[in-house]
Amino acid sequence: MFAFDKKDSYTFSFTSPDELRLYMERNGYHIPFSKDISLLAGQVQVKAPDGSIKTLKNTLATHPMEGCDAETDGSPSALTKRRYARFSGSGTALVWAEAISVTPEARTSDHQMMFTEKNADAFRALVDDVKKNDAFFVAQLTHSGRFAKNSDTPHALFATRSAPFEKVRPQDIDVPIVSDDYLDSLPEKYAKAAKIAEDAGFDAIDVKACHQYLLDELLSAHTREGKYGGSFENRAKLMLDCFDAVRSVLKPSTVLASRLSLSDMIEYPYGFAVAEEKPVTPDLTETKKLLEILTAKGLSLVNMTMGSPYFNPHVNRPYNRGAYEPPEHPLVGLERMIDGCAEIQKTFPDLVMIGTGYSYLREFAPYVAAGALKENAAKMIGFGRMAFAYDTFAKDMIAGKTDPRKVCIACSKCAELKKRSLHTGCPIRDQEIYLPLYREHCMNQK
Ligand SMILES: Cc1cc2nc3c(=O)[nH]c(=O)nc-3n(C[C@H](O)[C@H](O)[C@H](O)COP(=O)(O)O)c2cc1C
Repeated sequence: MFAFDKKDSYTFSFTSPDELRLYMERNGYHIPFSKDISLLAGQVQVKAPDGSIKTLKNTLATHPMEGCDAETDGSPSALTKRRYARFSGSGTALVWAEAISVTPEARTSDHQMMFTEKNADAFRALVDDVKKNDAFFVAQLTHSGRFAKNSDTPHALFATRSAPFEKVRPQDIDVPIVSDDYLDSLPEKYAKAAKIAEDAGFDAIDVKACHQYLLDELLSAHTREGKYGGSFENRAKLMLDCFDAVRSVLKPSTVLASRLSLSDMIEYPYGFAVAEEKPVTPDLTETKKLLEILTAKGLSLVNMTMGSPYFNPHVNRPYNRGAYEPPEHPLVGLERMIDGCAEIQKTFPDLVMIGTGYSYLREFAPYVAAGALKENAAKMIGFGRMAFAYDTFAKDMIAGKTDPRKVCIACSKCAELKKRSLHTGCPIRDQEIYLPLYREHCMNQK
């Protein structure tokens, strides 16, 4: 591996696909690359629990991207609808909806979407819009746990204490962790939300366990006492109970999905799926154990991720500019995610795995995406920040015409808006809405 000059990450200096490929080769990266991008246009088949097959029109997906723009009752607003019209209009075969809360106290802000019986019709209208663009639509069910903060809940809902996490993000140290009784009440809430989502027309339901939100926090709760902490069986209990509850109310033709942190990349005993030794490295043994159980229950679609945007965003979304100078080249982070995704895809060949982290690559992403598909490192490739920036990215990538003037530049401005619970999008490429907000609330701020 080459010696990494940290300043490298602050410039993206590749001017051609060949330059990127040569750089990766010379510096010992194992990042797939294919000049032939025809694979991007291939169809993908996803299986529902009843054995029926859904055929997706291409291999590209829009990742879940929280926009903090819902109405206070949790319904999508006009601005939310605008975002989803852009996401589905981009040409991706699959749109993975952002974190939608299953219960009011667990929202990250008063403007996070939430499923309730009263707002089912508003979600139906959103689904209808997305379907006009022939996209497969996944609902992400979430409980924000330690990141909950809204008018109902002025403090975090911790499942466990985490010394490294709380050092980086000091918060509510005096707040007690949530009780087993509270956790026992959640599977029913997941099931209710799942049914509303299915009735609204979503094609798949995601029981989300990533980024240190509640279900992932519990997967990492080695130090929690009682039935939800300690052993793997205890730590996985709530995820599995929620999954079972969701499955029990859905039609067998609805696809079961999960956004899963393959590894939290937070040191043991505070992270899920990390080796006990240092430096922190992924150990996917427990990830595979969990997926063994979930696939036997009908899980067929996994959108992979790693790390947490609140703890180690350079792991979670390799960037050129961010809250801190990353300790590794962004390509190291991308390689880690591609390797992790490939390891799971090869272990579970029937799963549709969606790869993550590709927005960093700008207009050269299609070549690495095609390389990953060719090497069976994933069956689909997702884009998050790119989807905020570039409203026709999938169509253009498939046509071989990705426009360097429209791509995401991995500057983390969307994440800065999200951090402040402001309407979130791209202040650089979608200036009309998001630049004034960024100027007013984020410029010259810590
Ligand atoms: C502003 C912002 C909001 C996000 N919201 C969500 C979310 O609601 N659910 C989720 O699972 N991931 C969320 N993510 C993570 C993305 O889905 C994705 O994993 C990440 O951006 C890396 O992919 P990329 O390199 O294509 O951007 C968010 C990321 C950003 C920057």
